[in-house]
Amino acid sequence: MDLYVNQSKNHPNLKETLYTGAIFLETQLQSARQLREFALQSIAHVLGRETDARSLHKLMPVAEFVPAVSRLKSYFTNSAEAKEIIRSFVIELGEDPADYLFDVPRLRVVPHYDYLHAGISYAYKPHRDTWYGSVQCQINTWMPVHGVVPEQTMMINPEYFTKPVSNSSADWQLSNWISKERKLASINITEETRPHPVPLEEVSSSNEARIAPNGGEMLIFSGAHLHGTVPNRTEQTRFSVDFRLMHIEDLKAGRGPVNVDSGCADPEAGFKDYFHADSLLPFQGVRA
Ligand SMILES: [Fe+2]
Repeated sequence: MDLYVNQSKNHPNLKETLYTGAIFLETQLQSARQLREFALQSIAHVLGRETDARSLHKLMPVAEFVPAVSRLKSYFTNSAEAKEIIRSFVIELGEDPADYLFDVPRLRVVPHYDYLHAGISYAYKPHRDTWYGSVQCQINTWMPVHGVVPEQTMMINPEYFTKPVSNSSADWQLSNWISKERKLASINITEETRPHPVPLEEVSSSNEARIAPNGGEMLIFSGAHLHGTVPNRTEQTRFSVDFRLMHIEDLKAGRGPVNVDSGCADPEAGFKDYFHADSLLPFQGVRA
């Protein structure tokens, strides 16, 4: 695996390099710091300034945690501020925001695995976002809000970038997920009953990369990488922010990493959640 550190700004072939499976770690982006700051403000605004957010799972029963965290996630995702920061991010990298789409930024809250690992805090099994209907050219970002250790970060398994994994994505529909399943997150508390695209074979963890950044430091990687949630068995709830970018012309042309195993048939169902990175207006889809 190729890991670039602080080299995404003004990189001559950033997206093409990401499409080869390279991972970029950015520790000094101003826009990432702004996004972290906004996440912290959102946490304080929704949960209360006095609340020790990383101890949230010790402060309340799951039945209170779920509605509180649902409010927080919704506040963050629907804010204009987070979208404006994404535009700044594209500009800071030296890319033209007119060339890119993004989907809504998300704040993830991962408490101790035994407290909650379903629904709003679903612990993602190894997956590619393309199994969930993402386009091949999707670029993922991921950033912890507070510093993390490897036991509570997200994992990327670069060994499988070009190696197929038998999986259930062909039986999974993004349109059904959006219209029906996604909104059921808050009632999946003790167990995840919603269908997810999952591996149907043993996935080796021997070459997993568990990169543990400080708060505000960001990973950038292809959405076609096999990745997932590391079950958090630490005493601290993990907060992280992620969003995705799609280059419009690459999307239209079907460029990106080779699809090695994704069977999801309706990625276009997700286009209505994309926004233009320059105007911040919704994407109207690909016209023939
Ligand atoms: Fe993912």
